[in-house]
Amino acid sequence: MNNLISHTKIWNTLKTHQQSLAQIHMRDLFASDSQRFERFSVEACDLLLDYSKNRLTTETLTLLQQLATTAKLQKWIARMFQGEKVNNTEQRAALHIALRNRSNTSILVDGKEVMPEVNMILAKMRQFSESVRSGEWRGYTGKPIKSIVNIGIGGSDLGPAMVTRALKAYHPPHLRAYFVSNADGTHLGETLTELDPETTLFIVASKTFTTQETLLNARSARQWLINKLGDEKAVAKHFVAVSTAKQKVTEFGIDPANMFEFWDWVGGRYSLWSAIGLPIVVMIGMDNFEQLLSGAHQLDKHFETAPFDKNLPVLMGLISVWYSSFFNATTEAILPYDYTLELFPAYLQQLVMESLGKQVTREGENVDYPTCPIIWGAPGNNGQHAFYQLLHQGTLMIPTDFIIAIFSQHNFPGHQEAVLSNALAQTYALMMGRNPEETQALLKIPNPSLPQCEIEKSEKLTQQLPHRVFPGNQPSNTLIYKKLTPKILGTLIALYEHKVFVQSVCWGINPFDQWGVELGKQVAGTLLPTLCSEQEKDAHHTIKHDPSTEGLLNYIKAYRHG
Ligand code: F6P
Repeated sequence: MNNLISHTKIWNTLKTHQQSLAQIHMRDLFASDSQRFERFSVEACDLLLDYSKNRLTTETLTLLQQLATTAKLQKWIARMFQGEKVNNTEQRAALHIALRNRSNTSILVDGKEVMPEVNMILAKMRQFSESVRSGEWRGYTGKPIKSIVNIGIGGSDLGPAMVTRALKAYHPPHLRAYFVSNADGTHLGETLTELDPETTLFIVASKTFTTQETLLNARSARQWLINKLGDEKAVAKHFVAVSTAKQKVTEFGIDPANMFEFWDWVGGRYSLWSAIGLPIVVMIGMDNFEQLLSGAHQLDKHFETAPFDKNLPVLMGLISVWYSSFFNATTEAILPYDYTLELFPAYLQQLVMESLGKQVTREGENVDYPTCPIIWGAPGNNGQHAFYQLLHQGTLMIPTDFIIAIFSQHNFPGHQEAVLSNALAQTYALMMGRNPEETQALLKIPNPSLPQCEIEKSEKLTQQLPHRVFPGNQPSNTLIYKKLTPKILGTLIALYEHKVFVQSVCWGINPFDQWGVELGKQVAGTLLPTLCSEQEKDAHHTIKHDPSTEGLLNYIKAYRHG
């Protein structure tokens, strides 16, 4: 069997085309086409995408669209939107689009309408969040809630934490949000020291309600609350859960009436639109959360209907495939010039790498092309003073996304001008670089036919020349919006979700499972009893690991047990 996309004619055509483009500098592409910006930019859903600073031509785009057609992208989009089981290894639909289906059109899973349940949970979230925000919901001792703590990890943490942080401007002054995810007791411990148990509400968020880190943190938080308030009955007023597993929530001791449900057709990293978004709703209010959903819905419609050459996620997905598969680019950097998006790169790490970090196709065939790029990044101006050196003068090709807000949430004189000029300067400099002639002119290297001291100066400057040259030709996308609002944020997140889907279809992989996280969890399960036992060399420790792991275990145990 060989159904790999890399064995198609279009793949080979793209390979040949890459060779013809590999030596061409983007500054020449710009020099030969005064309309390049107009040709390679799209405005849709209140976003402008400028992709002209990429190593591509009209022909590249045509070929990449042919690749998408060969991979049956349009069919796969329809299958996902219609609730088919596109997550084939878990036999599940991937219907995050239903969670923000503001048109409320019919969507079926296994012949059953999902919208009534979606709307019911949204209504429950509204009612609950309003009672917390208004002070109607009282803690065990009768005080209103002042702090909410989301306990979750992965998709049950990163999305809600990123959005809650990004929309800080929408938080009410009397509420604060905390996110506890790490199993290291420091995370919970440091958070609890800031909290008053009488006015704290914990949201335990776990799709499966089996995740070790989350249950550990939830149990310890529960014990802390009981110790502080002196009564187990207090739990009902201070703990709610978000999960697909009612039985497990009940067993944990949370009243099912305080549980917000979602469904197995919502993937963890696609779940912030579901009840997993509860901390967001409490912090920004349901009306604003609905704006977030509307923004995503608008992008969903665009993705479903816009022609490929005007389709934001399709273009961004194809460009990413172009670099990963044909230029062997191994990473992509996310550079928000909007400080509210400081957690966006971390959120995207899970979205992209848990979705695309795969080595086999949907059918289980090993791929013979690189798939997922490594995602990293940080807010723009900070990154400039940290890792941009690598982008400008390193040896790697690193495609970047510049995400730029025209207006900030805070208007200090001169600040936004500094942000915007730096953002644009960087995309320009990465594209243009500075060639040896330009650098020489800039260094004002004197004419060597002059006196001895001038010759020495000239030699010193000439030695510096290679260090001061910038190759340029580093590709970037620029995404611009007016100001970060819940709606724009929803659009932006959905854009990246669908970009990932486009990549997955081109590579023929299932982006909705994550078997790769299983092995580590399983091995941790075998190590746990050994770590818990008192003996350095535990007689019951029957599972033998490699000598390195055994050595490390014994070293740790020697310290732990004195
Ligand atoms: O281990 C990875 C993972 O399964 C993620 O996919 C998921 O987002 C995270 O763990 C948390 O899972 P849960 O919501 O079931 O606690």
